[in-house]
Amino acid sequence: MLFLLAVMPTAAPASGTGVKLDPVDIDLHDKTSLQNGARIFVNYCLSCHSASYMRYNRMGHDLGLSDELVQENLLFAADKVGDLMKAVMPRDDAKKWFGVAPPDLTVISRARGPEWIYTYLRSFYRDDKSPSGWNNTVFPNVAMPHVLYEWQGHQRAVFKTEHGVAKFEKFELQRPGTMGEKQYNDAMRDLTNFMVYLGEPARLVRYRLGILVLIFLAVFLVFAYLLKREYWKDIH
Ligand code: HEC
Repeated sequence: MLFLLAVMPTAAPASGTGVKLDPVDIDLHDKTSLQNGARIFVNYCLSCHSASYMRYNRMGHDLGLSDELVQENLLFAADKVGDLMKAVMPRDDAKKWFGVAPPDLTVISRARGPEWIYTYLRSFYRDDKSPSGWNNTVFPNVAMPHVLYEWQGHQRAVFKTEHGVAKFEKFELQRPGTMGEKQYNDAMRDLTNFMVYLGEPARLVRYRLGILVLIFLAVFLVFAYLLKREYWKDIH
C-alpha cells in the first residue's frame, strides 16, 4: 500500500512565472470551510466553468448537507440534485467571448496544486492593456476577468525592471473592496479547500481500486499455490 502511495502523481507547482506561491492550510475535515467554498464556487465560478465529474447530491453528501439544503442553497445552475455540475454558459459562447473556453475545474487543484490556486485567486490586478481590464501575476495574460473584485477591491501590480526583465514586486490596493485582506484571504482559502475536495473523490476511487487489485492478487496467489500442490502431489 505504501508503494501505491509513493507512485501516486503529486501536484506540480509549475508556476513558471517565478512568482512566489503562498502556502494554504488545506483541511478536508473542515466541513464549515468546505461548505463556504462550495457556496462561493456555485455562485461565482459555475457561470463559466464546469465541475462536470461531480454531482450536486454527491457533493452534498460528502459535505454533510441534505438534499433539501443543496436544493435551496446551491442549486442555481441545474434542476435536480442528481445533476452534474455543469457550467451555465454554453462552451462555444464562452470561447467566442474569452478567446479560450474556461477549463473544467474538477481536477484543476491536482494539476496546479493548492498553493497555485490560492495565490492565483488573490493575484488579479488592473491592466488597461488586457481585453478584460484584468491581468494576473501567476497566470500572465489570463483570459479570465477578476470575478471577485467587489470583495477584494482593485489592486495594482508594481514591477521592477532588472536587466530589461520586469519582475513582480508587490501589489498596491487602489480601491478597497467589501472585504478586508484577511477576510478575502480566508474566503479564498475556503474556495481552494473546496477545489481540493473536488479533485479528491476521484483519488479515493483510485485508492479503492488499488486495494481491490492487491486483494485479488493475494487471493489469486493462494489458489495458484493450492493448484500447484494439487498438480505436483502425484509426481513426488
Ligand atoms: C466570466 C467567466 C469566468 C468566471 C465567472 C470564472 N472564470 Fe475562471 N477562467 C475563465 C477563463 C476564460 C479561463 C481561461 C483562462 C486562459 O486560459 O487564459 C479561466 C481560467 C481559470 C483557472 C486557470 C485554469 C488553468 O488553465 O490552469 C482557474 C484556476 C480558474 N479559472 C478558477 C476560477 C474560479 C475559482 C472561479 C470562481 C471564483 C472562476 N474561475 C470564475 C473564465 C471565468
